[in-house]
Amino acid sequence: MRFVSIVLGALLLATGCSKAPEDSQAVDNTAAIKPLTSHEQSMNVSRDYHSFANVDEVLVTHINLDITANFDTQQLSGTAVLDLKRIAADADTLVLDTRDLVINSVSANDTALSFSLASADPELGSALSISLPSEVNQITVDYTTSPEASGVQWLTPLQTAGKRHPFLFTQAQAVHARSFIPLQDSPKVRVTYQATIRTPKELLAVMSASNQADTERDGVYEFNMPQPIPSYLIALAIGDLSFKPMGERTGVYAEPELIEAAAKEFEDTESMLIATENKYGPYSWERYDLLILPPSFPFGGMENPRLSFITPTVIAGDKSLVSLIAHELAHSWSGNTVTNATWRDLWLNEGFTTYLTYRIMEMIYGTDRYNMEAVLGYQDLLADIASLPADDQIMAIDLRGRNPDDVFSNIPYEKGALFLREIEQKVGRDNFDAFLLAYFEAFAFKSITTDEFVAYLDQTLLSDYPDVLSKERIKEWIFSPGIPAGAPVPGSDAFSKIDTARSGFLSAVLSPEDIATDAWTVHEWLYFLNNLPEQLTDEQLVKLDTAFDLTNSPNNEIAHSWLMIAVANEYKPAYGRLHEYLVSIGRNKLVKPLYRELSKTVEGKAFAKRAFEQAKPGYHPLTIKANEGYVQ
Ligand code: BES
Ligand code: ZN
Repeated sequence: MRFVSIVLGALLLATGCSKAPEDSQAVDNTAAIKPLTSHEQSMNVSRDYHSFANVDEVLVTHINLDITANFDTQQLSGTAVLDLKRIAADADTLVLDTRDLVINSVSANDTALSFSLASADPELGSALSISLPSEVNQITVDYTTSPEASGVQWLTPLQTAGKRHPFLFTQAQAVHARSFIPLQDSPKVRVTYQATIRTPKELLAVMSASNQADTERDGVYEFNMPQPIPSYLIALAIGDLSFKPMGERTGVYAEPELIEAAAKEFEDTESMLIATENKYGPYSWERYDLLILPPSFPFGGMENPRLSFITPTVIAGDKSLVSLIAHELAHSWSGNTVTNATWRDLWLNEGFTTYLTYRIMEMIYGTDRYNMEAVLGYQDLLADIASLPADDQIMAIDLRGRNPDDVFSNIPYEKGALFLREIEQKVGRDNFDAFLLAYFEAFAFKSITTDEFVAYLDQTLLSDYPDVLSKERIKEWIFSPGIPAGAPVPGSDAFSKIDTARSGFLSAVLSPEDIATDAWTVHEWLYFLNNLPEQLTDEQLVKLDTAFDLTNSPNNEIAHSWLMIAVANEYKPAYGRLHEYLVSIGRNKLVKPLYRELSKTVEGKAFAKRAFEQAKPGYHPLTIKANEGYVQ
C-alpha cells in the first residue's frame, strides 16, 4: 500500500487528483497511485485517510505503558500493552500505526506473535500488522523510539531556562503519537491509558493524565487517564519542573526560573474555568493545569487534557496574550470532550474553540477586548483567504494525500468561529449558548465527523429556527471557499481611533510623538502595525522605531509584526533583533512568516539561511520541516 507523499501529493492536487488507498490493511507500500476522477464523490467522509489502523475490525480500548527515557541515546523504550475489542468476530490481524519505531517483539500471554512492519510512507509512517489468534484480546509490544521521532523533542540543558538539566516533550497532534507509541493513531479511536515513566531521578515526568505535583522525585512516575481520549492527546514531558497552584483546580508546572512569572501571568485561569463551566456545562477533566515549555515548543499551546502545554513566548508580563490559555482551556469542551473524527473535521475542534475563546475573553476581560481580538482574528482570516488556493479555504478540507501539518491555516479557526458567530447572531446569544451546552453533552467523549455535525444541526437549530437558518447557507460555510456574502464583520470602536492615528502618521499630519500611545494595549499596537501599508519609507520606519523602540519590543507578538515590516522594507537596524528572534524562538507561527518573507530576496534568503543553520539544532522537527524549504 502506498500513501502519496506530500511533494507528490501537491503535484497531484495541482492536476486535480490524489487518492488514498481504499484498503487500510494491505501492507504493500509499492502499489501505484490511482488518479482521482473527482473530489467529494469518491471520498468516504468518515474514513481517516491518515491512519493505517483497521478500526472496523479491531479497536484498541486501553493502553498501559511502561517506558524508560534515556537522555543519553535520546530514546524512549519499553512496552505498550494494548487491550483489544473485536468489531469483526473473524478479525485475524491488528494493524497499528508506527513511525520510525524499532519493534523488538509482539506477544500475547507471553507467547510471541508474528508481525510485519511495512516500508515507511514519508508522511504516515509504517503500518505494523500483527497476527491475532482468535482468543487474544490483549497484546504487548516491546519497542524503542528513534532519536529523530517526529513527535518527541529532546532538549539539551542549554536549551532550557535552568541550563542544568535536559528536557523532553512530546507533541502528538496531528499524526505523531505513532512516533512514540505503536497505536491506532486516529482521532476516531478513543482509549483510556495508564503509564509508568522512568526518568533520571532528579527530573519530574508529567502527562496528559492524573499528575501528582507533590510526588517524590524518585525517577518512577505513575499516571492514569480514566477518560477515553484520542491518541493525539497523549502527551509526556520530563524536566526539572516545579509546580505552583493558581486556584482550587488550576496550577502551573514550569522550570523553577519561570514558575513565578507564569503563575502571575496566568492567574486568571481559574476564573476562566469557572466562567466556561457556567456557560457550557461542567468541566469533565477534574484538574486543569498548565505546563510551560522551553521556547522551542513549535506551537502556542496544545490542549493535552488536564495539562495544556504552553509556549513561554506568551509570558508578556501584562496578560496581553492570555487568550491562548482561554483557547487551550476551551478545547476541554470542543476537542477533548467532543472530538473531530478525522483531520478533515479539524474545524469542529478549532472553529468551536476559537469561538469559545472569544466568548471566554469577553467574560473575563470585557467587550472591548472581545471586539479587538475578534477584529485581529478576522484580519488573519482575510489574509489567508487572499493567499490560499480555493480548495484550502474549505472548512471540511479534502486532505487525501496531504499531511495535515502542511495545511495549517486560519480557515478551521477563524472561518469556523465566524460561522458560529453568524448562527449566534441569527438565533440569539442565549439560544446559541443553550445549543452549545446541549451539543457538548450529546457528543461527550465521542469523535464526530462534519457530516454528523450537520445532521445534528438539522435536527436542532435548523428545525427550531427555519426562518433565520437554512441548510444551503450552512453548507456554503462548510463546503465552499471564501467567506459567504453577508457574513458578520467584527468591529471595534477602540480600533477606529487607531485608524485615525495611523492615517495621521502616514499623511505626515502627526509625528509619532504626537500620537497618544501611552494607554495603547498590545492589541491596539498590533492593529496599528498590521495595517500599515506594505511599503514604508526609511524615514517613516526610523521615525516609528525612534519614537516607540519597536525593534526592542519585549512583546513577542508586537516584535513579530514589526519584524515583518522590517523584512518587507529591508529595514536593517532591526536585523540584529530579527536574527536573535529567529534563533531563540521555535514557535512556528512566529518564525515561519519571517522565513517566508525573507526568502523572497536573495539577500534575505542568505540572512534566513544563516539564522536557520544556527537555530536548527534547537528547533523542533516540525519547525524544521515547515521552514527548511525557505532556506534552500
Ligand atoms: N490543537 C492546536 C495545535 C495544533 C493544531 C497542533 C493542529 C497540531 C495540529 C492548539 O489548540 C492551537 O490551536 N494552538 C494555537 C493557539 C492559538 C490559535 C491561540 C497555536 O499554537 O498557535
Ligand atoms: Zn486549538
